[in-house]
Amino acid sequence: MSAANPEPSASLLKHVAIIMDGNGRWAMQRRRPRAFGHQAGLKAVRKVIEAAVDNRVEFLTLFAFSSENWGRPQDEVSRLMQLFMTSLDKEVKRLHENGVKLRFIGDASRFPESMQAKMQKAEQLTSGNERLCVTVALNYGGYWDICQAARRACEDASPEMSLDAIFSPENIDRHLALRPVPPPDLLIRSGGDQRISNFLLWDIAYSELYFTQTLWPDFGKEEFSRAVKDYYKRQRRFGLTGQQVVSGVSS
Ligand code: FPP
Repeated sequence: MSAANPEPSASLLKHVAIIMDGNGRWAMQRRRPRAFGHQAGLKAVRKVIEAAVDNRVEFLTLFAFSSENWGRPQDEVSRLMQLFMTSLDKEVKRLHENGVKLRFIGDASRFPESMQAKMQKAEQLTSGNERLCVTVALNYGGYWDICQAARRACEDASPEMSLDAIFSPENIDRHLALRPVPPPDLLIRSGGDQRISNFLLWDIAYSELYFTQTLWPDFGKEEFSRAVKDYYKRQRRFGLTGQQVVSGVSS
């Protein structure tokens, strides 16, 4: 299944994507610097990875740093970079031992070379793992993704390919940063706001959305299971009628 060609019957929850929001407010409620909230947010990431395995989810995609987050106070950006670097040093071995495949999407070229090298090493080390695929979006933006997909679709085109074929939804889709991971079935946003904030714009065309007031550091296994339960109450129609979906007939 691809975002450009969804299958109405595909309701099994394979892929959960998360906008992890609320770290700053969680820290401020405790009169601590925002970086303290990001540190606590990392603990919630560990819990959610476990919850994804428990719920037999195959793919988990986490929005850790957006293209727009560079505009935050310099101190906060540096602390986040430090946190990513230490996580790459400390967490990768444990994830590998637990059968987790790690991937990164986003424009990595803006990160220090030492960080890019650690990211590549983590991807290589874990590439054969099959228990859960965790994709971390770093310096990622949905506009960037669609533009880079269109650009690569042009670069990869053979001279005889028509413009219609190059810019078909299927061809753009296959060049998106997330592929070969399928689009998310469920997108969760913590922290109370109900918006997409330039995350996976193309991929979430038919994702089910789940918004919760819970601030990200307080998000744990119970909240994850609540979101999963909520997902299974929904009927995914992909533009068809409810009756068509129930009868499995699409003509
Ligand atoms: C948004 O909360 C959160 C971030 C920009 C950073 C997310 C990072 C982590 C959860 C830590 C590490 C993650 C990995 C995968 C290593 P916010 O700061 O915008 O919160 P606010 O809306 O309350 O200000």
